Amino acid sequence: MSSTSDVLIVGSGAAGLTAALTLADRFRVTVLAKGALNEGSTAWAQGGIAAVLEPGDTFANHVEDTMVAGAGLNDRDVVEFVIGGAPAAIERLVRLGVPFETDGNALHLTREGGHSHRRIVHVADATGWAVQEALQRAAEAHPNITLLPDRVAIDLATSRHEERYSGAGTVWGVYAVERTLGHVELHTARATIMATGGAGRTYLFSTAPRGATGDGIAMAWRGGCRIANMEMMQFHPTCLYDLDVKNFLITEAVRGEGGRLVNPRTGHRFMPDIDPRAELAPRDVVARAIDAEIKRDGLDYVHLDISHMPAAFVRGHFPNIHEKLLGLGIDMTRQPIPVVPAQHYTCGGIVVDRDGRTDLPGLYAAGECTESGLHGANRLASNSLLECFVFGEACATDIAARWDTLPPVPAIRPWDESRVTDSDEEVVIKQNWTEIRRFMWNYVGIVRTTKRLQRAASRIRLLQEEVADYYGHFRVTPDLIELRNLIQTAELIVRSALQRHESRGLHYVLDWPGTLPDAVDTVLVP
Ligand code: FAD
Ligand code: SIN
Repeated sequence: MSSTSDVLIVGSGAAGLTAALTLADRFRVTVLAKGALNEGSTAWAQGGIAAVLEPGDTFANHVEDTMVAGAGLNDRDVVEFVIGGAPAAIERLVRLGVPFETDGNALHLTREGGHSHRRIVHVADATGWAVQEALQRAAEAHPNITLLPDRVAIDLATSRHEERYSGAGTVWGVYAVERTLGHVELHTARATIMATGGAGRTYLFSTAPRGATGDGIAMAWRGGCRIANMEMMQFHPTCLYDLDVKNFLITEAVRGEGGRLVNPRTGHRFMPDIDPRAELAPRDVVARAIDAEIKRDGLDYVHLDISHMPAAFVRGHFPNIHEKLLGLGIDMTRQPIPVVPAQHYTCGGIVVDRDGRTDLPGLYAAGECTESGLHGANRLASNSLLECFVFGEACATDIAARWDTLPPVPAIRPWDESRVTDSDEEVVIKQNWTEIRRFMWNYVGIVRTTKRLQRAASRIRLLQEEVADYYGHFRVTPDLIELRNLIQTAELIVRSALQRHESRGLHYVLDWPGTLPDAVDTVLVP
């Protein structure tokens, strides 16, 4: 089923649904998701949402903590804009029915790394699930919102696809594969918002869901948008080490509530040797410290231990993690948890301004697929859901303000499948998918060298040729679309990493250990 609406939103997570709900009283909105509506990262968020609510805390403190974590690469105006928007965003979620934990009459605030105050509002240790449910419930109930799951967007439909070709670059929507029948549909609108989440699955080990393949970033790049700071890939320090369960996050709040990192061989608590903030140093510092410990002693993992806290406290704060671990034979109230760092968050992405506008007329973007200037060289914990709420609303507000100037959608050509056939070599997709993720983990991980980055770049060139050839000959499938985006995103990450001749925040290169005096974005221009 192709569609025409006022506004098209690609993505049904926190950013996409916030935009949809803000627009829907005035406009007809269609929201696409590539699988079920709740399969993005939003539903997986554990820790919570950062907001200045503790007596004695100030917006200025939160701004400063964000800038320190981001190693000065942040845009201060944007940081102030987003942090200033937090209390209103939380209030809206409360009105939508998100059952945040309370402490008497106030919201309960937990603590995470890099925050100088207790600041994280949460729903036990499964905040994202509650947020996704509330947003989805409201969107499903709204008569002006059409939710279309199982649509995998392939590429932007732009002026080049108009029946009368034009090079103006205006975006009119997307072409997308409908999963069950395999047809390519055309979804058009006067304005399109990209809210497709991150690119975590470019790496072998990631806390992100299966669909985090950088689709929006790759589509925007192919369409002509600038992409920035893709070298800033965040690795979460504490992903469960389990050979079967590969991507279960152990929330940073476990360290916020007293959890300690210990070398399992020596029993030594190593973080106080490295940073005065110990386990609550920003993520890049903690992830590098764990990586160094593992590499130096040839370990498989380190231990995260909160068993010194009362058992009822641990069970009360972390009911879902506690239960999940019990199912795997680990009782976190009595035993340490084996953990390793894993890719967690894509700090860079599509360049947007404060209204969520991209470089292309008609195209907006919000959430993890963007580079808004908020996170800089390293995202402060629990600032990302917040960014989704604030920028989801900002896109919607700007579209509403400009509505009368947005031209109506012209006639757009349907997808052309006349020169392709069904694939007889699906094995290519599986092989390349695994290969990319493995060399990205080994060559473009927590600690980098120029030589390894160059090795990754030459493999990417070969794979890009192979995938382009495959894409040119065979009918598109969801797996092929994701593979094409995965390799494109990997190329943007490696190219950006090679351009930054310093170590800053998440980008740590042995050949360039120093930090340059000026913080400058890595901006790639198509
Ligand atoms: P997502 O929620 O990822 O949604 C992306 C949407 O885009 C999905 O609907 C997907 O189907 C759709 N999509 C993607 N590609 C296509 C395509 N080609 N066609 C159609 N649709 C497409 N942040 C915090 O602030 N606090 C936390 O406590 C926290 N915990 C986290 C825990 C985990 C395990 C993870 C992985 C992340 C966590 N984060 C946390 C980060 C945060 O969850 C994400 O940054 C945020 O949810 C991203 O929201 P989004 O709306 O940008 O994208
Ligand atoms: C966590 O709960 O540790 C994740 C928080 C985040 O990614 O912001």
